[in-house]
Amino acid sequence: MSNKGNDKPLVKMVDIEKRFGSVQALKGVDFEVYPGEVVGLVGDNGAGKSTLMRILTGIYHPSRGDIYFRGEKVLIDSPKKARDMGIEVVHQGFGLLDSMTVARNVFLASEPLIKVGPVKLLDMEKMNMETRKVIEHAGIRTGVEPDSIVQYLSGGQRQAVKIGRAIYFKAEVVILDEPTIALSIREKDHVGELVNDLRKHNVAVIYISHDLEEVYELADKITILDVGEKLAEYKRGEVSLEVLYDIIREGRIPPDIKQQNKKE
Ligand SMILES: Nc1ncnc2c1ncn2[C@@H]1O[C@H](COP(=O)(O)OP(=O)(O)OP(=O)(O)O)[C@@H](O)[C@H]1O
Ligand SMILES: [Mg+2]
Repeated sequence: MSNKGNDKPLVKMVDIEKRFGSVQALKGVDFEVYPGEVVGLVGDNGAGKSTLMRILTGIYHPSRGDIYFRGEKVLIDSPKKARDMGIEVVHQGFGLLDSMTVARNVFLASEPLIKVGPVKLLDMEKMNMETRKVIEHAGIRTGVEPDSIVQYLSGGQRQAVKIGRAIYFKAEVVILDEPTIALSIREKDHVGELVNDLRKHNVAVIYISHDLEEVYELADKITILDVGEKLAEYKRGEVSLEVLYDIIREGRIPPDIKQQNKKE
């Protein structure tokens, strides 16, 4: 890790187990991410990726296991708690209110207020001014304004608004679950740029995608889940893309490949 002060995991999930009735979605999974690190979380359908992230974001409660944030054991028992800790989720086409302006979406639930006599009103001027910064930050081209209605933005522009927002509010962890599904090639590239931008801001990024090529290019570390278990974990360049495909397809590590899933 090149960034200073980044030698301790920001999030550490230990021995996470999750059952849904008879389905064991996660079996003793350890997972960690450092500040400024992009972790690709991959695995076949039903591997448990989203479940693991729903636990981290307080949507599900683990049946067993602990979560540490900055080294301290935490109980993330609601999405609000996760958000207050600086954990943000970005889904494709989700998480923005379509009928509202970009500015309102950027400040959703944290709107600046201005006191006018006895009443408090939304400080539209401040919201628009700050939103302009978010838009610039996210590098959104082609005419997005603070008062643009979200409904008319492209998929990529929506992503950019969410990610720009995360940077503006100094999110510490950003989870992207299948962020590039249904995006054009150019928009995909843009999401890639935004991920790199988050990394530069020392944000920990967890990137879930079935597009292994994309993950391979972006991620500093790739964690592979297989039917609820952590199968392997590789740092950038430790395995080839082809081997990665094989591992996920076979659900096991080929005998000639170094096993990297031991605990540190
Ligand atoms: N709320 C739930 N109730 C019952 N079973 C669930 C629930 N959520 C997830 N599961 C089960 O847990 C397992 C893991 O699902 P999960 O959504 O985490 O997989 P995933 O790796 O995100 O898959 P995909 O790539 O298809 O999104 C699956 O068998 C799924 O059916
Ligand atoms: Mg999923």
